[in-house]
Amino acid sequence: MNARRTIAALAAMLTCFSMAAQPNTLVIDAGSKGIPIQETMFGLFYEDINFAADGGLYAELIKNRSFEFDNPLAGWDIIGNVKVMEDGPFTKNPHYLRLGYPGHPSMLTAICNEGFFGIGVKAGCEYRVSVWARNAGDRAAEQIGVQLCLPSTMGEEQAFCQGVITVDSPEWKKYEVMLTSPLTVEKAEFRMMLMREWRANTPGQAVDLEHISLFPVETFRGDENGLRKDIAEAIAALEPGVFRFPGGCIVEGTNLETRYQWKNSVGPVENRPINKTRWSYTFPHRMFPDYYQSYGLGFYEYFRFAEEIGAEPLPVVSCGIACQFENEPHWHSDASLDELQPFVDDALDLIEFANGPADSEWGRVRAEMGHPEPFNLKYIGIGNEQWGEGYPQRLEVFVKAIREKYPEIGIIGSSGPYKDGEDFEYLWKEMRRLGVDLVDEHYYANEDFFINNADRYDDYPRTGPKVFAGEYACHGVDGHKWNHFNASLLEAAFMTGLERNADIVHMASYAPLLAHVEGWQWRPDMIWFDNLDVMLSCSYHVQKMYSTNCGTHSIPITLDGANVTGQRGLYASAVRNEVKKQYIIKVANLAYEAQEISLQFKGLSRKETLDCPVTFTVLHSDDPYAENTLENPNAIVPVASVIEPSSWHKNTLTTSIGPRTFVVFTMEY
Ligand code: AHR
Repeated sequence: MNARRTIAALAAMLTCFSMAAQPNTLVIDAGSKGIPIQETMFGLFYEDINFAADGGLYAELIKNRSFEFDNPLAGWDIIGNVKVMEDGPFTKNPHYLRLGYPGHPSMLTAICNEGFFGIGVKAGCEYRVSVWARNAGDRAAEQIGVQLCLPSTMGEEQAFCQGVITVDSPEWKKYEVMLTSPLTVEKAEFRMMLMREWRANTPGQAVDLEHISLFPVETFRGDENGLRKDIAEAIAALEPGVFRFPGGCIVEGTNLETRYQWKNSVGPVENRPINKTRWSYTFPHRMFPDYYQSYGLGFYEYFRFAEEIGAEPLPVVSCGIACQFENEPHWHSDASLDELQPFVDDALDLIEFANGPADSEWGRVRAEMGHPEPFNLKYIGIGNEQWGEGYPQRLEVFVKAIREKYPEIGIIGSSGPYKDGEDFEYLWKEMRRLGVDLVDEHYYANEDFFINNADRYDDYPRTGPKVFAGEYACHGVDGHKWNHFNASLLEAAFMTGLERNADIVHMASYAPLLAHVEGWQWRPDMIWFDNLDVMLSCSYHVQKMYSTNCGTHSIPITLDGANVTGQRGLYASAVRNEVKKQYIIKVANLAYEAQEISLQFKGLSRKETLDCPVTFTVLHSDDPYAENTLENPNAIVPVASVIEPSSWHKNTLTTSIGPRTFVVFTMEY
């Protein structure tokens, strides 16, 4: 549908919604056994896009810490005598720097790192500087000054925090120094310099530096190679049921060489080879030449994070086809069926890495990294957004191998990048034929789609693979493709249909999850951040209103005898949580007027009477295009209040729901 028709349709619908003046009785069949809702239902799609990993969730503050970018000095400024060497101690990251006599006793040899859009540090927080180093000169020891600086200061000194490392061995060794920042600075610079007494550099001075790291001590759960606390906590607060990683398109790569290779992302961080992410250049209008994957945040860390936040881990691996958007029709980067075995091995070895005993080949790698117990992996995704015959042909090989060796593992196939149409139908047919457990559907779609698709799954076949609504977000048209309230309201309305169809929809995740405000390639995104702060979008709040108010069973809710899928602008779903002993009703009112609604509970047992206080959590903005920003992060947040028990009359709660509003009603039974 073109933009003009979309607006016309929207306007017509809003006019129609605004005619609503009749009472709306939403009948909840509380007596129904209901449909079990999977614990994986509301989850996360995590991709290393928009600087989500390095510069984002991964708490490392130094860019290009191992000097392995195509330009080994990317991110670094040098003064004096600095040489790039390439026979370092880590075979997969051979480059390092040699800092030597600058050529004059008064000159200086130093290196400065710019971090990711600057280095964010907070007052009172401790930072660990670590470096692998050796004394390569002719003096007994060399001292290296370490500084956090504010180059733009008007003060006497640029450094606001400093320490010294004494490199006293000709052998490679790891050195550390702790810094406590007295200031909060969004864009600091990190410096290391060959120390000199007053004009006393001497020829023969040399020190070698490799894997230079600056990490906040306070990370999520305190891990040394850990995650940025505020971002990880925002993710954890979603109480996600499933955590899919590491993408997205990066799983596929622009070509097979640049696909995400999980084996490169495990083991000691110093020896994980980097990868150039396709998101550095995919969109020439938002190009980031310095965007690489250090793999410091790798599969072990993703599994651990999933475990820590109580989500099922869902890794996705390449099926041997590189991103088709980047290759077809002029180019191909596929492994032929004869060349597929290493890809299949990657999938099988990954399952062993996650679940195998600590003395198996890949289980040992996990155990040596600190996790002898298995991660209890239950699902694996094969391929991301593939299409055409080549995908099922390859997937079939994976399915056979995985079923044979690990019959207990759920396999997720893909219906490609399109939400419907010939390719979509073809792949669904093939997924049924191959007997995968879930099919990953993607829809980045406009307002119309979200308004009109709350019933998308009502008529899906009930046999065969289940649905993983793996990537979706409302992409507004006419210049409205960003995180505003309207998009999130329509997502909320649409999601009632996911919940109602919990027997077929087993997983759902908004996408993408993370974006750095200075480094994004794709929007909207759920969580935004800069170097110091995090901003939760309205879509985040909608996701959280669902995921933290998830039931154990979906039960019928009807308006005029039918599912509530837009009649008079209303959308609704109902769940019972048999653990928390709650009924939870979600209602989105897309009309431009407040509406009177009655929640009428039918089928309650004789002993059951609803006359409890009801928590009424509302997400609303008068301005459809208002948004949360880092400057004003709480412009639109859910507001909870309590409806007094006196509002009940014979198990019916009558209240009013504001215009353009999403509400969650929670009540104990
Ligand atoms: O979420 C951004 C991209 O959208 C993902 O990488 C891909 O799967 C989809 O095309």
